[in-house]
Amino acid sequence: MIKYLYRLLLMAGVVFISVTSVFAGNEEDRVEALLQQMTLQEKIGQLNQLSVGGFDQNAAGMMRAGMVGSILNECNPKVLNRYQKVAVEESRLGIPLIISRDVIHGFKTIFPIPLGLAATFDPELVEKGARVAAVEATANGIRWTFSPMLDIARDPRWGRIAEGSGEDTYLDAVMGVAMVKGYQGEAIDQTSMAACVKHFVAYGAAEGGRDYNSTGITERTLRNVYLPPFEACVKAGAMTLMTSFNDNDGIPSTGNGFLVNDVLRGEWGFDGFVVSDWASIYEMVNHGFAEDNKRAGELAINAGVDMDMMSYAYISHLEELIGEGKVSMETVDNAVRNVLRIKFRLGLFENPYIDEQRAEEVLYSPEALEAARVSAVESAVLLTNDGVLPLDKSKVTTVLVTGPMANAPHDQLGTWTFDGEPAHTVTPLKAIRDLYGKDVKVIYEPGLTFTREFNEDGIAKAVKAARKADVVLAFMGEEAIMSGEAHCLTDITLKGDQRKMIEALHATGRPVVLNIMAGRPLVLDFEIEHSDAIIYSFHPGTMGGPAVAQLIFGDETPSGKTPITFPKNVGQIPIYYNHNMTGRPYNGTETMLYDIPLRAGQTSLGNTSYWLDSTFEPEFPFGYGLTYTTIEYSEPSVEKTEYGVNDVLRASVEITNAGDREAEEVLQFYVRDMVGSVTRPVKELKGFKRVKVAPGETVKVEFELPVQDLSFYGIDMKKKVEPGKFRLWIAGDSASGKPVEFEVE
Ligand code: BGC
Repeated sequence: MIKYLYRLLLMAGVVFISVTSVFAGNEEDRVEALLQQMTLQEKIGQLNQLSVGGFDQNAAGMMRAGMVGSILNECNPKVLNRYQKVAVEESRLGIPLIISRDVIHGFKTIFPIPLGLAATFDPELVEKGARVAAVEATANGIRWTFSPMLDIARDPRWGRIAEGSGEDTYLDAVMGVAMVKGYQGEAIDQTSMAACVKHFVAYGAAEGGRDYNSTGITERTLRNVYLPPFEACVKAGAMTLMTSFNDNDGIPSTGNGFLVNDVLRGEWGFDGFVVSDWASIYEMVNHGFAEDNKRAGELAINAGVDMDMMSYAYISHLEELIGEGKVSMETVDNAVRNVLRIKFRLGLFENPYIDEQRAEEVLYSPEALEAARVSAVESAVLLTNDGVLPLDKSKVTTVLVTGPMANAPHDQLGTWTFDGEPAHTVTPLKAIRDLYGKDVKVIYEPGLTFTREFNEDGIAKAVKAARKADVVLAFMGEEAIMSGEAHCLTDITLKGDQRKMIEALHATGRPVVLNIMAGRPLVLDFEIEHSDAIIYSFHPGTMGGPAVAQLIFGDETPSGKTPITFPKNVGQIPIYYNHNMTGRPYNGTETMLYDIPLRAGQTSLGNTSYWLDSTFEPEFPFGYGLTYTTIEYSEPSVEKTEYGVNDVLRASVEITNAGDREAEEVLQFYVRDMVGSVTRPVKELKGFKRVKVAPGETVKVEFELPVQDLSFYGIDMKKKVEPGKFRLWIAGDSASGKPVEFEVE
């Protein structure tokens, strides 16, 4: 009878709490009331996540029996409503499913890949993009996304570098928090999509840039570099977290109780739930960390991993493990509490279903497309420009649009776009024709049809077409499939005949503007030499075409900055701006291997920290990006030079737009702790601001930094500020600017 009443109320959409604690209590009371009614099998069911495709009777049967807490991989609203109906109306306790999917940089309206989004240095814009993703995805029934990926990555060979915010801890944290806020929304409603911060932790440090590989990050580096973005997102309310595939110092993350139980829950007070990565519980068997799936399940649940994604370890073995005393009932109860808490928090009990009529309506709204366009504009980085850009429409009469990415609607979307539809993509070719076809004659000759192609005839045709044009616009890069999960490389130069094609186009004597769309920073020495300008768009998403067209023709100005160091060659990797200082720093006067005549028997060429056959400097430093004007920086000044540990430091700088076009500059605030109980990075980003400057205008920009933000884990593994001397810079990238000194007492 009670159950019948429960269903009636539920179907009538009445706010419902649980069968026994009807209408009363807060989140925790509701969780407890429900937990009390659950059998062990139903509890274990809540910890089981299943991948489904279409409506499958076996999966439905499991849901009916209370054996599934969550599903992933299906996003047809009709199918999802059918599954949800089984869980809510046909299972004993009617607990709704939490429906998940990888919505990584947009659902249907695709935004730039996360690495590109990081290049915007614009967290408000990134939050807006995540909100668009949430509105589109939740309308289709997805209430939980596996994003943001917070893995610090310092190795562009690693394919998943595309999915994160790059190499810097601070930028990564700011972007992660923006995404969490955007996905979950300010107040929880039906458009709230639970965020999942991943992959916990150090996954991006995979040795050799090879996916899933081991890592060896020490606890201090974890705490100073890899963990802070996770902590920031947990503080911002991220509802879930995913453990990573890798073993760090021999311990697979999915079985690492120190990380999950002690740090995440104990130190940070995380009250959401933790999900394994896909089969990462079972993979502890492959790692040689567990003899079988049962033992792997025991290790994972005892480490604090609440939900099993596709290992079937919990559903198959937890009951037995409890019987054997290897897993306590309390451990299982706590895991169930964590899952139920988030289901209540998301309002799934009140609103388990989707309005199937609405699903289509919210997709590709004009606002969503505009947010995607602006994101693609702001994420594009102008790397070089000999003055050819922006094109002067009054002087240019004919342009050649060429290259394998000029009209590649699928590939410009980038990795992880399960739901992005190429039919909605606006490519550069289309945008140039639509927006500028009335001003200039547009010739299209692709040369190569995809980025790995070898095609001399195609190149010859493009070269012939180039001779008829005033300017060559060449769209090069990597297809979407060249980056992302398990898609790593040892050679990060342009593939196929692209270099050959660029060389041949350049040899025509026509100015060559390169636009590169890629999932990673590529090695660009050859491209720099054989072109007149390079705009780097990462993979820019649905609206990448209009964004780059408007940048080329000067209706938008470039403002993106590199969120990652661009190496000169693969041998420099890992190369990142915030490395520690060595005892023999490079000083710029070193002898290079071919600078001097070599003699047999020579015993030494130098003794500082550098490479004999490559400069120490990268191709482009972190934070770098040009615009169509010159921004001049004054020397920064600090309000005072001595601070206490609880003070707030104030610093300012003046920037002047010395050119004749408006610009938006990303000012970056860096600090160096000169002496520490452990060696400290040569520079660390502590803040940034995007500021508009009109031609001829001078703007004073101020930064505030609580001195507490200078704290780090030192020799005693305690987080604190160590008094002493510091330097700060306010500059347009991580490699320029003059420092100012200050002291903390
Ligand atoms: C990836 C995760 C992803 C999951 C679910 C795994 O292979 O590592 O990032 O969220 O699959 O699709």
